[in-house]
Amino acid sequence: MADLSTIIGSLRLKNPTLLASGIMDEDAGSMQRMIDCGASAIVTKSIGMQPREGYANPTVLELEYGLLNAMGLPNPGIDQFAQEMKKLQKSKTPIIGSIYAADAEEFVALASKMEQYGAAAVELNVSCPHAKRYGLEVGCDATLLQTIVSSVKQQVKIPVFVKLSPSVVNIVEIAQAAEKGNADAIVAINTVKGMKIDLETAHPILANRTGGYSGKAIKPIGVRCVYDIAQNVNIPVIGVGGITTGEDAIEYFMAGASAVQIGSAVYYRGPDVFRHVCKEINVWMDTHGYKKICELVGVAYQ
Ligand SMILES: Cc1cc2nc3c(=O)[nH]c(=O)nc-3n(C[C@H](O)[C@H](O)[C@H](O)COP(=O)(O)O)c2cc1C
Repeated sequence: MADLSTIIGSLRLKNPTLLASGIMDEDAGSMQRMIDCGASAIVTKSIGMQPREGYANPTVLELEYGLLNAMGLPNPGIDQFAQEMKKLQKSKTPIIGSIYAADAEEFVALASKMEQYGAAAVELNVSCPHAKRYGLEVGCDATLLQTIVSSVKQQVKIPVFVKLSPSVVNIVEIAQAAEKGNADAIVAINTVKGMKIDLETAHPILANRTGGYSGKAIKPIGVRCVYDIAQNVNIPVIGVGGITTGEDAIEYFMAGASAVQIGSAVYYRGPDVFRHVCKEINVWMDTHGYKKICELVGVAYQ
């Protein structure tokens, strides 16, 4: 059996599959379920300063090759979220607090609270494709991003991850700005902006009109982003986007990811997806003579 443990900065993970933000992670009960199903760490739903209801329905569409969502970042707000974090305080599985904000001051306040609540790391969501003020406006501005990351780093002791969008002109430049701000890891990618039109009504189906596309269809985009970023930064990269099987995860490792997050596949394969993917990674590594995840990371560069 191969050793599936992996290290992201100071975070030691028993296997390389984490739960991605936004899927079954808004309350302690569902997060515990994902832990029980084998996720090595949980990234919470993105949490902001104030409670947010999110957009009107429909908010999620199942398309031929993936999901299109415009939830509108519904969340209970950081103060209310303390209750959910408290219920998981004794958990041995790291809980990574995902946060979104419009400026450095808010990011710092949110990260401090997550640290107080016992989060093992924070993930700065600067990449939501459908939340005005809180998403790409921050994540496509390298100078602003560097300021935000370094402000958060000066405030908290826990590792700071930065989650990027593929919908920027130069994702390497943005990743390098996060690294200059002292980020501990890059997470790539968030969903890809998309739209679905109903032919009969001649109208976009999502109430928000546009949304974020996820699932199998975006895997080549995620793999390309990780491949470009990992060769140009000296911090670990966590791959996310379309990972459904062990072989998908292996592809991300070869592109340079040290771990992966799984989102939409929880819907497609059920919560046991973490166990299935780990088993498939193990089988693949055994048959190909790999003993550790780190032996695979970035092998596609040669
Ligand atoms: C319904 C839904 C809600 C999401 N909410 C968030 C969120 O709150 N914060 C975030 O950073 N990403 C969010 N995402 C993006 C995922 O974390 C992930 O980056 C993206 O879906 C690609 O991975 P996947 O193909 O495995 O789903 C959401 C995705 C979906 C499908």
